[in-house]
Amino acid sequence: MSAAVAHMMFRKLTLVHKAFCNGTIAIEKRFASGINSLIYSEYGDPNNVIQLQTDNKIPTLDENCLRIEMLASPVNPADINTIQGIYPVKPPLPAVGGFEGVGKVIEMGKRTSNIKIGDLVIPAINSLGTWRSQVVCPAEHVSVIPEGTPLLFAATLRVNTCTSYRMLADFQDLEAGDTVIQNAANSGAGQMAIQIAAARGLKTINVVRDRPNIDELKDHMYSLGANIVVTDSELRMSSPEKLLPGLPRPKLGLNAVGGKSAISLMKYLQHGGTMVTYGGMSKQPVTVPTGMLIFNNIKVVGYWMTRWHDRNPNSVEAERMFDELCQWAKEGRLQIPRHRLVNILDYKTAIEGAMADFTTEKQILVFDQ
Ligand SMILES: NC(=O)c1ccc[n+]([C@@H]2O[C@H](COP(=O)([O-])OP(=O)(O)OC[C@H]3O[C@@H](n4cnc5c(N)ncnc54)[C@H](OP(=O)(O)O)[C@@H]3O)[C@@H](O)[C@H]2O)c1
Repeated sequence: MSAAVAHMMFRKLTLVHKAFCNGTIAIEKRFASGINSLIYSEYGDPNNVIQLQTDNKIPTLDENCLRIEMLASPVNPADINTIQGIYPVKPPLPAVGGFEGVGKVIEMGKRTSNIKIGDLVIPAINSLGTWRSQVVCPAEHVSVIPEGTPLLFAATLRVNTCTSYRMLADFQDLEAGDTVIQNAANSGAGQMAIQIAAARGLKTINVVRDRPNIDELKDHMYSLGANIVVTDSELRMSSPEKLLPGLPRPKLGLNAVGGKSAISLMKYLQHGGTMVTYGGMSKQPVTVPTGMLIFNNIKVVGYWMTRWHDRNPNSVEAERMFDELCQWAKEGRLQIPRHRLVNILDYKTAIEGAMADFTTEKQILVFDQ
């Protein structure tokens, strides 16, 4: 059966009707050809341990719960590392993969409030298990996204976008004209950091790995608002004086790589600058040359968005952050990082793509063709 025929059959099987049942207000209910979930029952290589499970039983809805039709959910390094069993978050097994995504409320328990059918929601907890076509969960496990927020922006908001926003906000007093240096600058988080910095009038120096198609990648990053894009080797062979004519040395460095790349970032920081480590893509430790601490007074700190979300549920600061980011996205000032939409049925492609080098392409699972 071709993908197009399968698609039409899936659509025809989707019936929408209105009814009252099970003590819940079943305003809209979809009986599709089963609920598709990507589950793992043991930790290991995601290419081997992730399995597609199709469940034809529609779960009933408790009165404090919502039924959510998932629309899009990215495959992030933290999802991969969790399945590999090397991430500090270890959901009880078997587990559904995926920490973030966006869905639409299609049914509400009678004791739910401040929410309505059709609202777009994102997780408000860290292990919702978003790689499934339908989620049933307590209403407080999700947050409503402001109307008009672009769908895929919402799908990738909670992890990378919030991380980039917070790192630019919480570690140095940055004013328009200040500079920030980052590695893995073509990552999802890096592309968001470029744009959030630009929206605040900050300048970014962006470091990426050497690759054959570097000019095409640089063009893309300049189009997002990057001020300087260099490869690792260009950074190593240059100096702050040569690379940054007319720009102040960076006050802030964002490190998602570790190893030699982190040392290069530190060398460019100004006296008293801060390097925030939020990822370790090279799997090399962060080593700090002694002189950087003593003579340059560099501060070396770490950041984990999960902890921030845990400590700031429904805080004024969290609300301000979500509102500002969604507003910028609605105004077109924040674009969704480069991505590829992959149907959940084709999940192996998404997992492979997420683990491949040099792609600059976030894999985003979608659930209805
Ligand atoms: N601490 C937190 O709260 C937090 C939150 C969000 C993200 N993160 C972390 O931030 C990092 C980026 O996440 P993302 O979702 O934005 O990633 P992504 O879009 O999947 O991109 C991965 C990035 O890592 C680079 N990379 C892969 N392998 C590498 C290696 N061996 N050496 C150097 N660079 C390598 C890739 O560069 P190439 O194009 O050259 O392959 C790309 O820039 C991850 O480590 C993630 O876990 C942390």
